[in-house]
Amino acid sequence: MAFVRIIAAAACPPNRGTYVEVGDQQLAVFHLTDPQRFAVTDALCPHAGGDLAGGEVTGSMVACPWHHWEFEVTTGVCPRNHAANIASFPVELRDGFVYADLDSPFKTGPGGQTPPLPRPNHDDPAAGDCW
Ligand code: FES
Repeated sequence: MAFVRIIAAAACPPNRGTYVEVGDQQLAVFHLTDPQRFAVTDALCPHAGGDLAGGEVTGSMVACPWHHWEFEVTTGVCPRNHAANIASFPVELRDGFVYADLDSPFKTGPGGQTPPLPRPNHDDPAAGDCW
């Protein structure tokens, strides 16, 4: 395990996601409040690359801002389609900073590693409901 510093906790608004790049990894850091904790996941939705950090957070669930697929951010599970699970990483809070073990993502479903996706293109969101 190799925990790396991701972001200052104070830079993460509560009940929202924050987009962070660490090396070549695109991450979403979620500051959850019930209970108080942080979660770090892949930043990009496996459907079409929506920016999960920009999604609406309810409890420990985030809804992708593009077509509303939902993910449990502490596990990466997509409850309605486990093939779409995302990586969620072990997290520690140390001295006011969020650390994550980026070498050991939780992969709790049959989705395995999510394929690399292009960066979100917010000028061309796909339309329609995926479900
Ligand atoms: S891009 Fe996330 S649900 Fe479509």
